[in-house]
Amino acid sequence: MHSMTLVSSATSNLNAREAGLLKRVGSSARRSTALVLAQRFARDATEVWASLVEPIACGRRFYRLYSDHLYEVWLIGWSPGVCLPLHDHGGVSGAIYVVHGALDERFGSLPFNGQTLRRRALARGEGHALDTQHVHEVTNTGNVTAYSIHAYTPRLRLMNGYVVDEAQGTLARNGLVEHTEWL
Ligand SMILES: [Fe+2]
Repeated sequence: MHSMTLVSSATSNLNAREAGLLKRVGSSARRSTALVLAQRFARDATEVWASLVEPIACGRRFYRLYSDHLYEVWLIGWSPGVCLPLHDHGGVSGAIYVVHGALDERFGSLPFNGQTLRRRALARGEGHALDTQHVHEVTNTGNVTAYSIHAYTPRLRLMNGYVVDEAQGTLARNGLVEHTEWL
């Protein structure tokens, strides 16, 4: 029920042709393609994003690098110490790939029953695909600005915020937020 709601929210902005194409391609293939897209932009389109990389004193910055009806690619800058609280991606698949500095990720998967959030460091040149059930908190724990490239399929439209109860191993939603606030 929960995942059905998420998928519905992700596809509601597509027209019939786009929704049909989305269904035919499939989530797994698009997730893999999202990671390839992020890596390709990182490695082969350096001139596209490198000129945007500069120190950020506070918060995050977002630059949309590419968008079509099934995919979008963002460059996101993270100031030292900034944390994006726990969130999902509204039912879309995607990928994250660090191109400058490093990020720390606490993550889990929906439905979140009795889990503990795991943690991993993402150094420059590291990243991974995000499935539709992925929830994570992303922090720049370093002392230099970090930049990461994110690809989403279909386009990201909303995110649900969560708070975790570590003792119970449960998550509770704490609001629906626009992606421009939460990327
Ligand atoms: Fe995210």
